[in-house]
Amino acid sequence: MDLLFATNNIHKIWEVQEILGDAFRVFSLKDINLCADIPETSDTLAGNAVQKARFIHQKTGMDCFADDTGLEVDALDGRPGVYSARYAGEGCSFDDNVAKLLKELSGVENRNARFRCVVCLLLAGEEHLFEGRIEGTILRERKGAQGFGYDPIFVPAGYHQTFAEMPAYLKNGISHRGKAMFRMMKYLKGNEGTDSGLSLVSKPV
Ligand code: IMP
Repeated sequence: MDLLFATNNIHKIWEVQEILGDAFRVFSLKDINLCADIPETSDTLAGNAVQKARFIHQKTGMDCFADDTGLEVDALDGRPGVYSARYAGEGCSFDDNVAKLLKELSGVENRNARFRCVVCLLLAGEEHLFEGRIEGTILRERKGAQGFGYDPIFVPAGYHQTFAEMPAYLKNGISHRGKAMFRMMKYLKGNEGTDSGLSLVSKPV
């Protein structure tokens, strides 16, 4: 099955292709020669995922899916959350965001956090939402060079390595995005509901 992923983030494309495996071919916007600045102006992850998918569907007429992810830090009342991409300001880099988070958490004992990812699949005129989350802790310094975003400072619960120290298959097997994509894959294969703990919502466009 061919799927269009409404993202400009090449790291996400790599991850999702590996998660979905050979039964699916994931196309990026670049693959279809679409250069678009995708809006994400909602104050919820689900709102942004829907907004991104609708925007690309309107531009292309194609079925597609989009994700939105937030890092929720307990000591910061859930921030940066839905604003994770531009935490350090418009146009900031992954590294700027990590630096700002480390600064805000300096001297803070409670390092608990989670990644939450919502995927919106826009298929045959219907929207389907899938969610995945992973609990973990925020380190005091960066470790590792794999992955992207906040990966160098996030250690998933039950592990000693950051996401950035893990091989891709390990991160993808336990991550927020991996879980959300797994649910989408189950749905596309006609087996939705066979795994547990994550929500699936369907509603008309
Ligand atoms: P987005 O809006 O879904 O692209 O995600 C918001 C921000 O969260 C991104 O700019 C990244 O900094 C961060 N992010 C998203 N997914 C991940 C991940 O899997 N690992 C680390 N950081 C991530």
